[in-house]
Amino acid sequence: MSPASIAVLGHLAVLSLLAHCLLLSSADVDFLYNGFHNAADLSLDGSATVLRGGALQLTNDSNNIMGHAFFNSPVQMVRDNNADVVSFSTVFVFDIVTNGSGGGHGLAFVVAASKVLPGATAEQYLGLLGKNNMGDPSNHVFAVEFDTVQANGLLNETNGNHVGVDLNSLVSNVSEPAAYFTDDGGERNVTLESAQPIQAWVDYDGSAKILNVTIAPVTSVPTRPRRPLISHAVDLLPNLKQEMYVGFSSSTGKLASSHYVLAWSFRTGGAARPIDLSRLPRVPKKPAPPPSASVVIKIVALSCAATVTVIVAAIGVALWLRRRAALADTLEEWELDHPHRFPYRELYMATKGFKNSELLGAGGFGQVYRGVLRRSRDVVAVKRISSNGKQGMREFVAEVSSLGQMRHRNLVELRGWCKRGQDLLLVYEFMPNGSLDALLFGGAAAGKSPSPAPAPATPLTWEQRVRILRGVASGLVYLHEEWEHVVVHRDVKASNVLLGADMGARLGDFGLARLYEHGGDPATTRVVGTLGYMAPELTVTGKATTATDVFAYGALLLEAATGRRPIDPVTGVNLLRWVREHGVRGELVHAVDERLDGRCDKEEARLVLWLGLTCSQARPEARPSMRQVCQYLDGEEDVPEEAVLVFSDVDSVDFGSLTSLTWSSCATMSVGSLHGGR
Ligand SMILES: *[C@@H]1O[C@H](CO)[C@@H](O)[C@H](O)[C@H]1NC(C)=O
Ligand SMILES: *[C@@H]1O[C@H](CO)[C@@H](O)[C@H](O)[C@H]1NC(C)=O
Ligand SMILES: *[C@@H]1O[C@H](CO)[C@@H](O)[C@H](O)[C@H]1NC(C)=O
Ligand SMILES: *[C@@H]1O[C@H](CO)[C@@H](O)[C@H](O)[C@H]1NC(C)=O
Ligand SMILES: *[C@@H]1O[C@H](CO)[C@@H](O)[C@H](O)[C@H]1NC(C)=O
Ligand SMILES: *[C@@H]1O[C@H](CO)[C@@H](O)[C@H](O)[C@H]1NC(C)=O
Repeated sequence: MSPASIAVLGHLAVLSLLAHCLLLSSADVDFLYNGFHNAADLSLDGSATVLRGGALQLTNDSNNIMGHAFFNSPVQMVRDNNADVVSFSTVFVFDIVTNGSGGGHGLAFVVAASKVLPGATAEQYLGLLGKNNMGDPSNHVFAVEFDTVQANGLLNETNGNHVGVDLNSLVSNVSEPAAYFTDDGGERNVTLESAQPIQAWVDYDGSAKILNVTIAPVTSVPTRPRRPLISHAVDLLPNLKQEMYVGFSSSTGKLASSHYVLAWSFRTGGAARPIDLSRLPRVPKKPAPPPSASVVIKIVALSCAATVTVIVAAIGVALWLRRRAALADTLEEWELDHPHRFPYRELYMATKGFKNSELLGAGGFGQVYRGVLRRSRDVVAVKRISSNGKQGMREFVAEVSSLGQMRHRNLVELRGWCKRGQDLLLVYEFMPNGSLDALLFGGAAAGKSPSPAPAPATPLTWEQRVRILRGVASGLVYLHEEWEHVVVHRDVKASNVLLGADMGARLGDFGLARLYEHGGDPATTRVVGTLGYMAPELTVTGKATTATDVFAYGALLLEAATGRRPIDPVTGVNLLRWVREHGVRGELVHAVDERLDGRCDKEEARLVLWLGLTCSQARPEARPSMRQVCQYLDGEEDVPEEAVLVFSDVDSVDFGSLTSLTWSSCATMSVGSLHGGR
C-alpha cells in the first residue's frame, strides 16, 4: 500500500467496524414499511390487498367483509425465561374513507398467537373475534382498536369514534374518544373516518408494564404528541405466548368504510423507527362531484397555458423518476430475512450522494463517509465496501445480522447494512475522536509525506493509552470468550481502534476480513490482515485464531507504548525486534514514546512493553489468552518472566515466500519494504 493510503488509514476516523451490531438481542425484530410496495413478508387474507400505489387496503367499502395483514414471521414477545414480556413499539399511519355518513367498523392493530384469528367473522368485532369466544383467555389476542361505531355501549365503548385496548375480547379494558393532547395540555378531537391519514403509536414497556397509545392527524401534527391518549397499566404476560404475530385486522358490516394502512414501523427491544411521512402512498378518495358548466369553461380557457406547463412538468417528472429509479432498491429475496437493512436511498441522502466532501477516509476495505440520517438526525459513518465476492455477500450479511446481537462498550456499534449490486454499505455509530492510529501518528499527514508523520499537537497521555489498551483487551475477551461462539477479530490494529466522545476505546472493522475470505476463490488461501500485526503462523497456515488476535494485540501494545508503528514506513524497522533489543539490554523503559517526556508510570510502562513481547511470541501456544492479558494489565497476576527476549523463529520466517499469497489491500506495508527493512 502506498504511503498515501497509509495516511488515509490513519485518518480514518471511523473506519471500521463491524463491530457489532448490537443493541438488539438476536430475537429482536425491526421492520419499517414506508408504503407496502415490497411487502413480500406480509401475509394477507380476506379482503386485504396491496393497491398499486403501495397502500395496504384491509377492506373496501363493501358490506360484511373482513381483511387481515400480518407480518409473516412470528415475533418473540416473551423472553426465554418465560417471565418477561419484551418491550415493543410500533408506529403506523391509517386512513379510513367512508362512502356516506358514518361507515364502519374500524380497524385494529393486533398481536395474536396465530395469523388466523380464532372465531373471527366479518360483520362485526373488527374481524378480531367471534361472538362465541369473546373474553376467552385462550384466544391470546391483544388489540388496540380504532373503532368507528358504537354498539349500544355493550362493548365498553365511549362513543362511535374511539380508541380502545382489547384483551381477548372486544369489551375494551380501556377506551377513550379519539383525540390527542397538545403540549399546552389542550385536547383536540380526531375524526377517525376523516379520509385523512392518521398516525398511531403503540408502545409497551415490558418491565414497567405500561401500554401507551397515541394518535395524531398526519397533516397537522407530524410528530408524536408528548402525552399519550391512553397510558394503561396492563401485564400482557398471561395473554402472550412466546411467539406472537403482529398485524392489522378490519371488518365492515351493515356500515362500511375502506380501511387502509399506509405505512408501518415495528420494533421489539427499542423504539420503532419513524415513518417517512413524505412518502405515504395515496388512497382512492370518494369520486369527486362532476364539474359544473362554468368550471368547464374556465378549464377550456386555461388549457393552452396548461399544455405548456404540463410538457415542462412532464420533463421534470421524467427526470425525477429516472433518478428515483436509480436510487431504488432491487432486493433479492433473502435480503428480506435480515433485519437492520437501510434503504439505499436513505444512505444516499444521508451522505449527500456519497459526496467527496463527506468522505472521512478510504482504506483497505472501502471508503467511509460521514452521514446524517434524515429522520433521526443521527450522525453515522457509512462504510462502502466493493465486494469482489459474488457468493460471499449473502453469507456475510447473514453474519452481520447475527452479530447484530453483540453489544459491548468496547466494540463499535453497527447500526445496519444495505446491499447495492456488488457494494455493501455498513452503517456504524460515528466515533467523534477518530482512531488511535490518527491520534498516535497524526492522521492524514502520515501519508502525504514520506517523512515520519509529525506528532499530533497533543499526544495521548500515558494514562489515556493504558485505558485504551485495557478497553481493547476487554472487547477482545468478549469476542473470544464471552460471546456464544468464538469470534476472531482478524484485523486488530491501531486504525481499527476508535475513540468515543469519552476517549473510551471501541474496536471496529471486525468481521470484514471474513467477507474477503468468503469472497475469495476457495482454491487459494487468502490471508487478510495487516503486516506488522500478523502472527508468523498466519502467513503460513492462513488460519486466523484467537492466538493470532493476541499477537496483533501485542503489536498494538508496543505501538501505543512506544508511539512507533509495528513496521516503520520509512526505515522499515521492525518494532517488535527493536523493543526486544531494548529488553535484552535491560532498558525496556527507554523504548517508551519520547514524546511523553518521561511522564509515565515506569512500572506500568515496563509491564505494557513486557506484555507486548509476551503476546508477540512466535509460538502461538506461548501467548497468553486475552483474559490472562486483562489480568496482567490489571495487576491481578504477574506477567510470566519467560524467555520472551529470545530471538525466535519469528525472525527466520522466509518473507520471500509470502509473495505467493494474496495480500489484502489493507496491509499497511508492502512485502518488499518489509523485506528491505529487515
Ligand atoms: C371489495 O372486496 C371484496 C372482498 O375482497 C370483493 O369481493 C369486492 O369485489 C370488492 N369490491 C370492490 C368494489 O372492489
Ligand atoms: C358507495 O358508493 C358507491 C357509489 O359512489 C355506491 O355504489 C355504493 O353502494 C356505496 N356503498 C355503500 C356501502 O354505501
Ligand atoms: C380486561 O378486561 C377483561 C374483561 O373485559 C378482564 O377479564 C381482564 O381481567 C381485564 N384485563 C386486565 C389486564 O385488566
Ligand atoms: C371499561 O373501561 C373503563 C375505562 O375506560 C374501565 O375502567 C373499565 O374497567 C372497563 N370495563 C371493563 C369491563 O373492562
Ligand atoms: C370531542 O369529543 C368529545 C366526545 O365525543 C365531545 O364530548 C367534545 O365536545 C368534543 N370536543 C370538541 C371540541 O369537538
Ligand atoms: C407512556 O407514557 C407515560 C406518560 O407520558 C410515560 O411516562 C412513559 O414513559 C410512556 N411509556 C412508553 C413505553 O412509551
